[in-house]
Amino acid sequence: MELGHFGFARYLAPACRFLLSSLALAPCFVQASSATNETDKLALLAFKAAVKDPYGALASWNDTIGFCHWHGVTCGPRHPRVTILNLTSLGLLGPISPHIGNLSFLSEIHLQNNRLVREIPPQVGRLRRPTSLHTITVSGNRFSGTIPPSLLNLSSLTRFGVLDNRIQGSLPAGLGLTLPNLQIFSIAKNQLEGPIPPSVSNWTKLEVIQSGANKLSGKVPSFKNMPWLWYFAIFDNQLGSGNAEDLSFVCSLTNSTGLRFFGIDRTGLGGALPKCIGNFSHALKWFYVNENLMFGEIPGEIGSLVNLDHLNMYANKFSGEVPSNFGNLQNLGALLLTDNNLGGTIPTSLGNLTKLITLGLGWNNFHGEIPSHLSKCQSLQWLDLSNNNLSGTIPPQLIGLSSITIVTDLSWNHPSGVLPMEVGNLKTLTELDISDNMLVGEIPNSLGDCTGLTTLRMGGNFFRGSILQSIKSLGGIEELDLSRNNLTSRIPEFLALFRSPKLLNLSYNSFEGMLPLEGVFKNATATSIIGNDELCGGLPAFHLPKCISKRSKRRKIHVLVSSACATFVIIGIALVVVFLYLRWLKKKVKEPISTSMDDSCPNISYRALLKATDDFSSMNLIGVGNFGSVYKGMLKENGTTVVVKVLHLVHRGALKSFLAECEALRNVRHRNLLKILTVCSGIDHQQNDFKALVYEYMENGSLERWLHPNPTPSHGNEPTRTLNFFQRINIAIDVASALDYLHHQCHIPIVHCDLKPSNILLDAEMVAHVGDFGLAKFLLGSSSNTVANRTSSVGIGGTIGFAPPEYTMGCKVSREGDVYDYGIFLLEMFTGLSPTDDTFKDNLTLHSFVAEALLERVLEITNRILLQERENHSSPNGPQHWLSESDGIFQECLVTELTNDVDDFKALVYEFMVNGNLEDWLQLTPGENEGPSNEAVSSASYWPVIEILGCEVALHN
Ligand SMILES: *[C@@H]1O[C@H](CO)[C@@H](O)[C@H](O)[C@H]1NC(C)=O
Ligand SMILES: *[C@@H]1O[C@H](CO)[C@@H](O)[C@H](O)[C@H]1NC(C)=O
Ligand SMILES: *[C@@H]1O[C@H](CO)[C@@H](O)[C@H](O)[C@H]1NC(C)=O
Ligand SMILES: *[C@@H]1O[C@H](CO)[C@@H](O)[C@H](O)[C@H]1NC(C)=O
Repeated sequence: MELGHFGFARYLAPACRFLLSSLALAPCFVQASSATNETDKLALLAFKAAVKDPYGALASWNDTIGFCHWHGVTCGPRHPRVTILNLTSLGLLGPISPHIGNLSFLSEIHLQNNRLVREIPPQVGRLRRPTSLHTITVSGNRFSGTIPPSLLNLSSLTRFGVLDNRIQGSLPAGLGLTLPNLQIFSIAKNQLEGPIPPSVSNWTKLEVIQSGANKLSGKVPSFKNMPWLWYFAIFDNQLGSGNAEDLSFVCSLTNSTGLRFFGIDRTGLGGALPKCIGNFSHALKWFYVNENLMFGEIPGEIGSLVNLDHLNMYANKFSGEVPSNFGNLQNLGALLLTDNNLGGTIPTSLGNLTKLITLGLGWNNFHGEIPSHLSKCQSLQWLDLSNNNLSGTIPPQLIGLSSITIVTDLSWNHPSGVLPMEVGNLKTLTELDISDNMLVGEIPNSLGDCTGLTTLRMGGNFFRGSILQSIKSLGGIEELDLSRNNLTSRIPEFLALFRSPKLLNLSYNSFEGMLPLEGVFKNATATSIIGNDELCGGLPAFHLPKCISKRSKRRKIHVLVSSACATFVIIGIALVVVFLYLRWLKKKVKEPISTSMDDSCPNISYRALLKATDDFSSMNLIGVGNFGSVYKGMLKENGTTVVVKVLHLVHRGALKSFLAECEALRNVRHRNLLKILTVCSGIDHQQNDFKALVYEYMENGSLERWLHPNPTPSHGNEPTRTLNFFQRINIAIDVASALDYLHHQCHIPIVHCDLKPSNILLDAEMVAHVGDFGLAKFLLGSSSNTVANRTSSVGIGGTIGFAPPEYTMGCKVSREGDVYDYGIFLLEMFTGLSPTDDTFKDNLTLHSFVAEALLERVLEITNRILLQERENHSSPNGPQHWLSESDGIFQECLVTELTNDVDDFKALVYEFMVNGNLEDWLQLTPGENEGPSNEAVSSASYWPVIEILGCEVALHN
């Protein structure tokens, strides 16, 4: 059972939003002071000296301007003393200087989201006017040590945040008395231990307590006097003893009339849930008590909390029935009662929960029929009814509920009958488990429509018949379990072609014949075939008998062959086969072409191309690719210069590549895609099949030639030129726009599959056009589920150095694959190194090379040409001087950002490399990429590159 996505992040999100919005600037009136303002300046400089500042965020902290105007520093309105220090999210590294304690007038310190280390200096709590400090937030750093006692003695403190650090120690007993004004107490995700002191009941102004994910222990005190408390999160600690009185504090929260979040999960708390929960605030949205030791009946009073969004009670020992008034919880998005001792029938009222997305009722003792009324939950995406005593038949309405995309688990029940054909409605479902039931009959053909499936478990039923051809379309399957059924006949070869199976279980059936040898059948640990007595052959590791009957058949054939008559028969058959194949081939080729090009784009003849290219003379040859040669030519009738790609049809795959490209380019139109003008499909002079694609001509050739100019130009007068930083960024944007179009704007999304500089062409204006769609694939459906249509695929393509790890890991052809390629392309553009460079071998790749250099050595690996360019052009005239016309839209938006300082330029490049989401993108390494890395990830991966330079608006206009 996978419940990981209900984890920590969910708890934090509402509170974080609140913290961000509530920590607004508070005006601060400071008393006159005789102390000199030099003290504050020196303290700030000491702070600056102690930290590393890789982004130059504190560059303004110098003598040119008064310290009150330094970045992140705010002084009081009457006197030049620092009152607010706000250094949020600046990438600062290192320790905090104790001199910060000299900023005696500080009222707010915001240091969250940096990489600050060591202890929080106790001097912070020893300001000379502790009459004034009310806010300290240092969340999201790497502070260690203990919380200085001096801090927890500041009675002025209203907001205290140290969330997500590495702080140890325990909370002082008098905490509730020393901080009487506290509103926000946020210590979650540290290593704090010991009890929550009972004195916290004195915090009458408390609004938020976040103490989750620590090692706190002992009895939970009363929170009776906290009318403003709305966020109560103490989850993931070692509180409670598992006994009945563990939950005695719960009723104290009924006084908090605005309570919205209640999270006490994973705390070891035991006992029965008190009925007073019905008196909780009706504003309550989040109720988490999962993974505890609670028992007894679920109080029906919960049914009155009509604003509940999440009701997580799984993994306890609740018994009795599900209260039928849960049907009143109209706003419920998640109901998780999995893994308890609940019984009875599943109430029909649950069908009223039309907003329900996640329903977990598995691992209980429910009986009765599988509830067909759940099919009224039209938002349901995740359904788990497994491991109950449900019987009857599988309701067609429920198994065909097309909203379900993540999981349907009906395993380990007692339903009988057939698997309804409506299962084919679950086109985007990723996991279906109907194992260990009593299902009979054949597997419905429609199962082949569930092309999103990655896990299919059907073991332990009475399915009979053969493995359907329709299963062939489930090419994205990673786990296929058909074991313990009555399946017969041969194991189809297409299973060997599945790209990503990690587990194939065919054991205990009645399969017969030869075991395939390729693909997953090469892996005796991933594949299980035991208990099939009629199988033979296969790799030795499977210990199957040799296929004797086959061999004797073959021997008979030998005998036959010796007779002349038989020879004629065989030749005859062969001729018929060849004839049929040729006809098929012709039909196959003709079909897409006749439909692929519209009337405005007539077929061109072989003769016309011959003329245009001077008989395909080598003078006009401008490249030789995987599947064809590329010529430059001029169409005689209108004088247009074109590029002609002649397919090498002898090359296996060339024809498929031709079809893929025609199909992909049929309906796409975008400024940054190479336009196909026409195609030629005919017969050449030698009566051979001839196929060619004709594109518009790109004056500046392929990007490859610009990035890696040949030191000894083979083509005579070809000038050696380089691209400057801005041209490169423009190209990066052009390519991102093309990808965005292919992935998100096309009617049927297209994955390019072979993005690299040699496939990116530059026109006279240096606008980039993505070309070469010979390996492109369509994505089925336009949902977030990115499984490629394998029926139109031409096998795994890509080029060494570019092929995303997903491919080599045996995952799906997906948008993420292109995004990965895009990332490599960016690295190539800005380091000037090719991923196929000789330096990169064994474990060293361009990817790991750059990852290694982040953050400290980025400029070292940045293409020398880029930095050189800037230095050469650096002049007193300012940046305009070195930005040429062709630098495009960035001219405008960058001029304001740049000075003519070389270091500033380096900072900009640095910013681009480090913050241009490259760091995030580098996370797309094999293994870590297996989560739900969907559209959100992929679209987020090329746009920030652009946004980082603040030019988003310019771009979209
Ligand atoms: C602190 O600075 C950040 C970034 O400039 C800003 O978003 C935030 O609102 C500031 N917070 C306060 C309390 O001033
Ligand atoms: C000093 O600060 C000013 C103004 O904030 C800034 O323009 C200048 O670049 C800084 N000087 C140095 C050497 O960082
Ligand atoms: C410090 O005080 C002096 C006079 O008291 C004033 O001229 C100067 O501007 C102050 N410095 C800052 C940074 O405000
Ligand atoms: C403060 O906390 C103590 C327990 O530590 C308790 O005895 C006392 O009654 C509390 N005071 C108030 C006003 O709640």
